[in-house]
Amino acid sequence: MILLGAKGYIAQAFSRELKAQGLGVMELSRDIVDYTQFKNLFWILSSLKPELVINCAAFIHKGLADACEDRKSDTLRTNLVFPSVLSNACEETGTKLLHVSTGCLYFGDNGGKGWTEKDTPQLSFNTHCGVYVGSKELAEQIVSKNPMSYICRIRLPFDEFDCHRNYISKLMRYEKVVRATNSLSRRSDFVKACLHLWRVRAPFGIYNATNKDQISSRRVCELITHVLKPGKEFQFWNDEEFQNTVARTPKSNCKLSVEKLLATGFNMPPVEDAIFESLKHWVPEKH
Ligand SMILES: NC(=O)c1ccc[n+]([C@@H]2O[C@H](COP(=O)([O-])OP(=O)(O)OC[C@H]3O[C@@H](n4cnc5c(N)ncnc54)[C@H](OP(=O)(O)O)[C@@H]3O)[C@@H](O)[C@H]2O)c1
Repeated sequence: MILLGAKGYIAQAFSRELKAQGLGVMELSRDIVDYTQFKNLFWILSSLKPELVINCAAFIHKGLADACEDRKSDTLRTNLVFPSVLSNACEETGTKLLHVSTGCLYFGDNGGKGWTEKDTPQLSFNTHCGVYVGSKELAEQIVSKNPMSYICRIRLPFDEFDCHRNYISKLMRYEKVVRATNSLSRRSDFVKACLHLWRVRAPFGIYNATNKDQISSRRVCELITHVLKPGKEFQFWNDEEFQNTVARTPKSNCKLSVEKLLATGFNMPPVEDAIFESLKHWVPEKH
């Protein structure tokens, strides 16, 4: 297996899980080889013949979708052009591809059912969105034309490891938290779900890979207060106030349906349990 963008936040979770499952992995970073170039990719794929390529490479300026507005060409090159080049290289070499995407493509809970993979994204370049979300959505359209590709959507990742990329850590560090209800992905559950799809030879295509159910930011803050006792009182924005004053691009708050993933036999834990376990095993960041 080959893991691209190996130094990244999500790639590190893949690396841990692949090793835990005893699966051989070659981790590629741009400082080892510039895998973003077609000729390098083609050489790597045709000579190493990996069973699967996992694409975790992305450009998220300062770890923030909004900050990508200041670096549009890098955002488009890495999140749109590169996945298309990779998908072509995979098709030409007969390599299976697992591309990591985002679930930040909808608003609301679709009448309680959650948005399925068949629902047309509400945030895209066809509607109104920032360059990060638009690049991810358009990349989905291109990669999904590859008949041997999985596209796995992650949302607001979290786990027990405190860091600026972790949704729980973000809530603890914000001066004010936006009131919103969302599907979220525990990193370890997300990567297990992705590897499960490949292992059981699930049908190729797009999969929402969040924990089951949805949870409000207020409930996550209550759990943080209950378990970690951070000694602070959370302050809240209402969503409209936040979207009108702070946000530079439209923000998705949504529930995704994981029925398609569950139908492949994957046992995805409910989000509240996953948050609670992460808090119980919390590992504060070392400074
Ligand atoms: N974290 C989130 O909140 C979140 C939420 C939803 C979706 N996602 C998706 O999850 C995937 C992985 O994201 P992540 O959070 O792991 O991102 P990340 O921590 O920023 O890592 C992305 C990796 O991409 C590689 N890369 C390739 N070209 C790059 C470029 N021009 N500039 C910067 N990095 C470049 C780098 O790895 P090397 O240096 O090792 O090559 C980098 O470490 C992406 O598809 C992202 O859209 C993330």
